[in-house]
Amino acid sequence: MPYYSSDLIEEVISQNDIVEVISEYVTLKKSGRNYMGLCPFHREKSPSFCVSMDKQIFKCFGCSEGGNVITFIMKIENVDFWEAIEMLSERANIDTTRFEVNTQYNKNDSAKKDLKDTMFKLNRDVGLFYHNNLIELLKEEKNPIKDYIISRKLDIKTINKFGIGYSTGKEPLYDYLINLGYTKDEIMASDIILPSKNGRMYDRFFDRIMFPIFDIRDRTIAFGGRAFGEKVNNKQIPKYYNSQENDIYHKGKTLYLMNFAKREKLENIIIVEGYMDAIALQKFGFLNAVASLGTALTENQARLIKKYTDNVIIGYDQDGAGQAATLRGLDILANHGLNVKVLKLDRDDVKDPDEYLNKYGPERLKNCIDKAISLVEFKVDILEKDLNLDNFDSKVRFLTGVSNILAKIDNNIERDLYIDKISKKYGMSPGPIIKEVEKGIKTKKEDTVELDMNSLNKKMQLITSVRKRQEQYIVALLISKKKNIQEEIINNISSFDIEDENVRKIFDFILSLKDKYDINKIDILSKIQDEDMIKEITDIMYIDISGYEEKLLQDVLKNKKKEKLFTRRDEIIKRLTENISNDESEILKVELNQIVIELSKLK
Ligand code: GTP
Ligand code: MN
Repeated sequence: MPYYSSDLIEEVISQNDIVEVISEYVTLKKSGRNYMGLCPFHREKSPSFCVSMDKQIFKCFGCSEGGNVITFIMKIENVDFWEAIEMLSERANIDTTRFEVNTQYNKNDSAKKDLKDTMFKLNRDVGLFYHNNLIELLKEEKNPIKDYIISRKLDIKTINKFGIGYSTGKEPLYDYLINLGYTKDEIMASDIILPSKNGRMYDRFFDRIMFPIFDIRDRTIAFGGRAFGEKVNNKQIPKYYNSQENDIYHKGKTLYLMNFAKREKLENIIIVEGYMDAIALQKFGFLNAVASLGTALTENQARLIKKYTDNVIIGYDQDGAGQAATLRGLDILANHGLNVKVLKLDRDDVKDPDEYLNKYGPERLKNCIDKAISLVEFKVDILEKDLNLDNFDSKVRFLTGVSNILAKIDNNIERDLYIDKISKKYGMSPGPIIKEVEKGIKTKKEDTVELDMNSLNKKMQLITSVRKRQEQYIVALLISKKKNIQEEIINNISSFDIEDENVRKIFDFILSLKDKYDINKIDILSKIQDEDMIKEITDIMYIDISGYEEKLLQDVLKNKKKEKLFTRRDEIIKRLTENISNDESEILKVELNQIVIELSKLK
């Protein structure tokens, strides 16, 4: 990534309207001068996420995340500052080459970014190394690796497309990387090489089939390595090794093969568990397949999917294991407004989509996909499997369970249709189900009220601390559009007057700026990197003081004076209790009297 001049920041902010950008991730509704929606950074049922068109900033009054359009992209895409700038430049068709410079900007920042860039490159080189190993082995007449690849029905086109490889030996990789010019530190940071007791540098993926994991921008960020042969079958070694999380790899934010899937126009996305499932599906033309790689689905993954489609089909392994975890993951998807369906394979003799495809072919799988059941039906199915419905007790529990599931459906029509369908399917009369469901809806309403109270409390907390609010006014005045006001603040208030740490940090930061007297002309937000400071400054920017500047300034100055007097008063009172001369005591009493008079005037 080249270095850019800071003019690019302003260009990016002015060319990317924050309401438009955020609308690509969050459904926003206009509310007065602002736009409101459900916060993408925490779970909530009533909107407290607020986007200001005028100020071009966002703020969540629930979780207090906030910032400008760049901060938003950094958070939601999990990218660093300059990556966000590049993404937004791309979005707005800004020609970034115009802003390229050779030097400048924060050294720490660039060092960190350089390390990340190096990691991307190193991972790519490692991937190529593995891939070339495999290609060479496939040219041979026969060997165990080739046999395994054939047994998994991986053809050369697929191997090339997904960069599949093989890690041959324990040691050659390290030397190879050194020869490419990587330093030992860089190589160790990648966590692919481990030093052994005798000082040798081992490839931790030694003797495994390698799957490079890509991010959404096609960069290689991690690896999965599958072992094969006797040792795996006897469970002597783990079937898969996966890369550890690091600066460039975050498991919960990645979906395997999403970089390929996103190239398609997506009606829906199929999420499967394993590398091999996603690969097999894509190989057979299901280009919308991605894998969650054995972990429970996360909110970040839900958001990632939501960017491309509203519909997901889950094609997890058919074994009962981990179904509770699966269910939780599905609820997360549903809570993010995704329409979730569950794939049921119509055969019991295969474990996952990969095996199904290889045994029964793509047409038959397509048929299963078309018949995928809804999340509600899936939950009812699980409930049924767990209980023996011949037994009276179980039947009661089943009915109660079903009612609980149905009560969670918000849409009345949908709920009624399910009641009808389920009562028919299980030969029950709908009456009692309806009653139970209604009971469930009532408690759910109470839950929601409680939730609203919670967010209300948080909002209250934000405004209750009077002292802090006063201090926020100081900064608000400092960044107001009125020059004389700014000067008054700069001349009369110092950092010692501010108790709140974050407000003080911002105050100090602004005063340290060369162009502090032209503060209204610069975008402070894009100059601040500290998360707490960003949250604080967006809070302050949301305070609308226009028209009240003079009055607030007087308040602020008055408060400062009061505080000084209070401090002096306390000092005198303390001194008077000590053993002092009569003269001193008299003088202090006079001063105290004056202070009391002044304080009463200031009320
Ligand atoms: P095969 O078809 O057996 O090659 O694997 P799969 O792709 O069907 O994967 P499976 O359903 O067995 O597992 C799903 C995912 O869980 C894999 O892609 C891995 O990411 C992860 N996983 C499976 N086994 C292991 C293991 O032994 N260790 C670790 N860390 N992860 C594993
Ligand atoms: Mn499998």
